[in-house]
Amino acid sequence: MPIILETQKVTLAGFRILDPQGVVIAGRQEVGQSLAHIEEVAAALGGQYSAALRIRMPDKPPPPIYSISRGVGVHVFSAMPVIVNDHVAGVIYTSRTPSNIFDHLYRERGKFLLATLAVLLATVAIGLMFSRTVTRPMRELVDRAARIGRGDRNAFQPLQHYGTRELAQLSDSFLDMAQQLSRRSDYIATFSAHLTHELKSPLTSIRGAAELLQDSLQSKSDTLTRSEQQSFISNILGDVARLDAMSQRLRELARAESAPQNEQTSLSGVIANLKSRFAQRTIVASGDLDRPIGMSGEKALIVLAHLADNAFRHNARSVQLEATAEASTLRMTVSNDGDPISNANSDKIFDAFFTTRRDSGGTGMGLAIAQAVMVSHGGTIRPLPSRQGVAFALEFPAV
Ligand SMILES: Nc1ncnc2c1ncn2[C@@H]1O[C@H](COP(=O)(O)OP(=O)(O)O)[C@@H](O)[C@H]1O
Ligand SMILES: [Mg+2]
Repeated sequence: MPIILETQKVTLAGFRILDPQGVVIAGRQEVGQSLAHIEEVAAALGGQYSAALRIRMPDKPPPPIYSISRGVGVHVFSAMPVIVNDHVAGVIYTSRTPSNIFDHLYRERGKFLLATLAVLLATVAIGLMFSRTVTRPMRELVDRAARIGRGDRNAFQPLQHYGTRELAQLSDSFLDMAQQLSRRSDYIATFSAHLTHELKSPLTSIRGAAELLQDSLQSKSDTLTRSEQQSFISNILGDVARLDAMSQRLRELARAESAPQNEQTSLSGVIANLKSRFAQRTIVASGDLDRPIGMSGEKALIVLAHLADNAFRHNARSVQLEATAEASTLRMTVSNDGDPISNANSDKIFDAFFTTRRDSGGTGMGLAIAQAVMVSHGGTIRPLPSRQGVAFALEFPAV
């Protein structure tokens, strides 16, 4: 009996020990009664383990919630034969109501609380991580976009929190793009300011001359001599020529900045054209001139012609071109023996509209165009220090 009671405490099952005839000899209930008529007991008395699931019909209907929690009064019965020397020496007959779910939950509440807590903690941890790695940099980026929109120059600095690698890449390229667009719009702003300024002086002088001519035609007595009228007209024509040259240069610049197609040429052909354009001048070319470069012959000629034109306009007697082929580029130095560029001007020579010879028809667009062509094709152009005259280093992209 003590063993049965101890076992019952742990398993929560009812125990009965039966003798070989099926009579209960130990247990809490039914001691002395025969259970041999019960199906599973009969099987166990025959030496076979057997079990049964039974539904107890209640006398009166239980309250609804109770019936759910209790199932419908299900009982499990199991009969285990005890076999000694090939004979059934008895049967251990057990029964148990499966514990209902709420009872079970209540009994296991510690574990469930722990599980809930673990899930909550994990959720909070994931949430925090998500917020650190995704939400925060995202919000910072949104904030940057707004600041950039308002024209805040400090908004181009890298983000403080990067989060994931993808977000870092995204914000890097976003800020990069924003910076480029901003640089571009700055460029357009200064460019149009310069352009307006450049257009203003010839237009003003054309208007002035035309008004004086008109006045002299309207007054009875001639206020202007014939030669004065001549000189006003030639001033007008000179200004028109200047405007014309400028519009041509602007067109050239626009074309230079447009995206290049898959063009290629070799410098030897370009230099032949260059020499015929400056037929009266000395142009000496040497080096790897037959290596193909990733630029059309027309564009390369524009670059070299501007450099040669500048050289000859600044008292150069000859221009030297020296090409060296490298793995991915073709380097070329263009040097001349003319007037040097002053230190004060050397930073500005590539600026559009910067010129020291405005009076003799300079537009200041030549080097800006040459640089636009080189850069839009992935090449470079920069001034080289030179003991005599002026020298530029060009890098043409190789094919
Ligand atoms: N080879 C050179 N020798 C001396 N000065 C030069 C040379 N090339 C360019 N420069 C200087 O750079 C300025 C800008 O040149 P460029 O852009 O070609 O415009 P432009 O020829 O219309 O003046 C020139 O006005 C001149 O002061
Ligand atoms: Mg020029």
